[in-house]
Amino acid sequence: MAKTKTAFFCQNCGTQFPKWIGQCSSCKEWNTIVEEVVQKEDKKSWKTDKVAKQANKPLRVSEITQEKELRLDTIDQEFNRVLGGGLVPGSLTLLGGEPGIGKSTLLLQIALKLPYKILYVSGEESQRQIKMRADRIQPNSENCYILTETKTQNIFQQVSTIEPDLVVIDSIQTLHTDYIESAAGSISQIRECAAELIKFAKESHTPVILVGHITKDGTIAGPKILEHMVDTVLQFEGDRNYVYRILRSLKNRFGSTAELGIYEMQGSGLREVNNPSEVLISKNDEDLSGTAIAATVEGMRPLLIEIQALVSTAVYGTPQRSATGFNAKRLNMLLAVLEKRAGFKLGAKDVFLNITGGISVDDPAIDLAVMAAILSSNSDIAIEKGICFAAEVGLAGEIRPVQRVDQRILEAEKLGFSKIFVSKNNKIGLKQSGIQIQKVSKIEDVVALLFG
Ligand code: TYD
Ligand code: MG
Repeated sequence: MAKTKTAFFCQNCGTQFPKWIGQCSSCKEWNTIVEEVVQKEDKKSWKTDKVAKQANKPLRVSEITQEKELRLDTIDQEFNRVLGGGLVPGSLTLLGGEPGIGKSTLLLQIALKLPYKILYVSGEESQRQIKMRADRIQPNSENCYILTETKTQNIFQQVSTIEPDLVVIDSIQTLHTDYIESAAGSISQIRECAAELIKFAKESHTPVILVGHITKDGTIAGPKILEHMVDTVLQFEGDRNYVYRILRSLKNRFGSTAELGIYEMQGSGLREVNNPSEVLISKNDEDLSGTAIAATVEGMRPLLIEIQALVSTAVYGTPQRSATGFNAKRLNMLLAVLEKRAGFKLGAKDVFLNITGGISVDDPAIDLAVMAAILSSNSDIAIEKGICFAAEVGLAGEIRPVQRVDQRILEAEKLGFSKIFVSKNNKIGLKQSGIQIQKVSKIEDVVALLFG
């Protein structure tokens, strides 16, 4: 063995220092520098003896043979969509998300459905615990092997006997390798284990999915370099108190990052939600004031969501404004526009805004629906059934065009809406549509049309 070398690493950003200092000079965090043992020499690959060392030669682009890109179908339509059509052989995918959001459930569920041989490595739960979870999820495949192990060398040993078509590691923070002596979850362990797994994936053409913990500010725990090392970074998010979960891709070397998958957490695992608009809009036959439907686009998918507002007389001096799933600053801005342009005295009113389903939206195209919901609650007049909105509102009260309006209109039409409010300046590519397109240019026009 080579002699032991140590170095100091910032646990927040991964910067290396020759000696201990109180504040990281890179990310400015205090008390994050920790000494770690690094032994760079004597390191073996996951199976150095078998793979001959070959140096790559440069090739002209025209000389590179392109085999048809094979992708491993994960059966889960939402997961496939986010990946850009399935798992690419030899790729590393990192799935991050808050504790308890359903990362393990999602991956186990995929592992249990697939007809391929899968090795599910868990460093967090015992085989029994995983069995209990598997029993809830049901479709039990004969090809899914569960291994509870945290040492990479032992994992690779099992991999060479089982020869799986897919390896799932839950989670990268629990792994440790023999070649580094610091504790599991530390920056250098994570980096080293990830490097070993990447080598394994690339050399054996086996896709690997890693689960990553996230820190309290929502980034994946460990070095930022982890995100650079892997091919795809997915994020599983949602409000734990609600049933809907959103799977986003933050980075994807093999596809678009604009795609998004939606799941519903049920007693028997996660259900793919193929038609999200239908579940996000409540099926209420009564006319209720204070609700409006917005046609938004999340990623590449058009989505119809329900916005609820409650306007009531303020009890205390300063009126309360609170928004769930919508930017509070933007709400204040829209209220100021209403006050100035539409003559509503909202200054003495409490305004509460809620986007149903626990999802949060930052698409400006829901502005008009937010305003309509507020106006409807304020006047206690329900907005007619079958109306939806897709427009941004500017500071002058002007109704502004939004992106991908055609997609929004088509989605609204598909869901049986009869009228959609859009900006007069929005270019609409659709030749004909079965839905009435109401073009408006000012917020005053909308008020007149909706509430007479
Ligand atoms: P889990 O996959 O353990 O989360 P993570 O790995 O991201 O920490 O998810 C656990 C939560 O999901 C837990 O609160 C219970 C819930 N759950 C269900 O509602 N239904 C199910 O079928 C399963 C397996 C879990
Ligand atoms: Mg888990």
